[in-house]
Amino acid sequence: MKLVIGIVRPERANEVLEALYRANIRGYSMSRVQGHGGETDRVETYRGTTVKMALSEKLRFEIAVSEPFVQTTIDALCEGGRTGEVGDGKIFVLDLESAVRIRTGEKDTGAVTPVAP
Ligand SMILES: Nc1ncnc2c1ncn2[C@@H]1O[C@H](COP(=O)(O)OP(=O)(O)OP(=O)(O)O)[C@@H](O)[C@H]1O
Ligand SMILES: [Mg+2]
Repeated sequence: MKLVIGIVRPERANEVLEALYRANIRGYSMSRVQGHGGETDRVETYRGTTVKMALSEKLRFEIAVSEPFVQTTIDALCEGGRTGEVGDGKIFVLDLESAVRIRTGEKDTGAVTPVAP
């Protein structure tokens, strides 16, 4: 299992949600974050000292998936998130040790696999 973290533009939220839905990815968390991509154009100088690095509003998706869904999830984030301009965001993929569905006690791949309601 992997935890796929996708940081995307807030204005691409609908496109990302649609891409995830089309890819049958049903379980995820989303939060608002502020970040910086390392660009230097926002650095401001005040009396000779660099004083400000503005942060951008982004959305952070956390998506726990079993191995067969990893590439699908990455593709959906890219497809939904891309505008082609700088600041489109990033995807990080982490090894995920375990997962538990609290209602049933199901573990690991059984807990991240989408289930019918
Ligand atoms: N190395 C990083 N670690 C953690 N978060 C990051 C990192 N790089 C970028 N982010 C997050 O992703 C957001 C978007 O980054 P951004 O798309 O500007 O990356 P970039 O490397 O500058 O690429 P681009 O050249 O397309 O702008 C940042 O605001 C930040 O929240
Ligand atoms: Mg950038």
